[in-house]
Amino acid sequence: MVKIHDKTFAPFISAQRLKESVSRIARQISLDYSNQTPLFISVLSGSFMFTADILKEVTIPCELVFIKVSSYTGTQSSGSAQQIIGLQKPITNRPVIIVEDIVDTGNTIEFLVQQLEKENPASLKIATLFFKPRAYTKAKKIDYVGLEIENDFIVGYGLDYNELGRNLPEVYKII
Ligand code: IMP
Ligand code: MG
Repeated sequence: MVKIHDKTFAPFISAQRLKESVSRIARQISLDYSNQTPLFISVLSGSFMFTADILKEVTIPCELVFIKVSSYTGTQSSGSAQQIIGLQKPITNRPVIIVEDIVDTGNTIEFLVQQLEKENPASLKIATLFFKPRAYTKAKKIDYVGLEIENDFIVGYGLDYNELGRNLPEVYKII
């Protein structure tokens, strides 16, 4: 059990299961992009650990940039994503893979896809470590999913509760 701010969290997903999910996506991407050089766009801060671990297992040439989208505070999605910060590389005609920690309602990913599509990438796919299918409200399909989870708030492995908990090597669920 861990206490973060006012909430208590219980162990949920082990480091071993995380590793297996990350490896599986890395293998699939390496196959799907076998003669391409994709540009990974990692969405900070939550996906920093996932990005580091998955890139170590991607066996094809690839590039990486980090961006930030204004995030929400607390345990409820705000429903409004605001602005992309830090995309300094042109993505036109490039195969692009967005790397997210978690897709919840899908507001953030929908916003990102809409913004990035404007620049006409050659292709645009989404890789997320966690997906909450019951919370998801969008039509856009998520191309690579590590683990589907219920509508519970989780922390660890990059994910935070009001900025704490990102350093935990395993994932915990709110109780
Ligand atoms: P969405 O826009 O509702 O899909 O939410 C996406 C963002 O909300 C993610 O990138 C996370 O930063 C955050 N988020 C959603 N669910 C959780 C959670 O269970 N724990 C921590 N952060 C979360
Ligand atoms: Mg995020």
